[in-house]
Amino acid sequence: MTRRPATALALLLGGCAGRQSVLNPLADQASALHGLLNLMLMVCGVAYLLVLLFLGWALWRNRRRLTDEVEVEPNDRGLKLGLGAWAGIMTLGIAVLIAASFLVDRTLAQHDRAAADIRVTGHQWWWRLEYRDPAGGWIETANELHLPANRPTRIEIRSADVIHSFWIPNLSGKIDMIPGRTNHLTLTPRQPGWVRGQCAEFCGAQHAKMALDVKVDTPEDFAAWLAGQARPAAAPSSPAAARGLDLIASGTCASCHTIRGAVGGGRAGPDLTHLASRRSLAAGTLPMTRGALGGWIAQPQALKPGAEMPATGLAPDETLAVVSYLESLR
Ligand code: CUA
Repeated sequence: MTRRPATALALLLGGCAGRQSVLNPLADQASALHGLLNLMLMVCGVAYLLVLLFLGWALWRNRRRLTDEVEVEPNDRGLKLGLGAWAGIMTLGIAVLIAASFLVDRTLAQHDRAAADIRVTGHQWWWRLEYRDPAGGWIETANELHLPANRPTRIEIRSADVIHSFWIPNLSGKIDMIPGRTNHLTLTPRQPGWVRGQCAEFCGAQHAKMALDVKVDTPEDFAAWLAGQARPAAAPSSPAAARGLDLIASGTCASCHTIRGAVGGGRAGPDLTHLASRRSLAAGTLPMTRGALGGWIAQPQALKPGAEMPATGLAPDETLAVVSYLESLR
């Protein structure tokens, strides 16, 4: 084997094991679907091989008689038997696939009646996430979904504007987010770590920049994370951060964003209470760094044209003050 095909094969197999791949199932739901995929490939593969085998056999058997006269004996017992066996094999294969699909569908729907733990709402182009608070009510965050491992989490799926599709390939199949309708999905992840989700329905100019970071936590880490998200924002710890908070509260930011305990009201955009605890910005578009935050606040339309976030019109020193405050929101 030369080096190039080896590299191509390594890349191909590497792609299968990724953190955004249906071929690397990390939850019960994805494992059930992966098993069904393997069974379908096997049944259809065997049928395909049999067709090729019989075709080759027929051609070889009649290799000397290349005329278009086909002689069929009306009462050829062998032919009748062969056709009967073929129809039987095909019917059996299809019956197996129907039964397996039905069983997998039951597996995916087995928690359908339980109350939701999380609400996910699709927006152009970000994700509103609300967690049921053990103390009552809902805790809001955005764009980074945390799930506890080894326990079914029931998710309500909605849309605020157009049709989106919620898809975390390593955890389950995709499900549409339809305005005016609530869909349900259960996820039982088995392995702590990061995976990546993506909107899977074209929903406008920035559909490609509607990604979702997903972190599967151990149950203890999840409880600690949720308790952290439930807390109000920390008070500014430096003069620059205090100035940033003033600018946010008195400017246009507050009409769209909420920072619990500091800036209230706006719900048009993502909740920023613990913004800096997330690993990315603008639905997976940028890393959560000081530079990216500054760039996003100064020129959101240059980074994600068409997004609802307008340029703030802040002076450079004001932008830096706002960044100082936002990056303290852990
Ligand atoms: Cu939302 Cu595509």
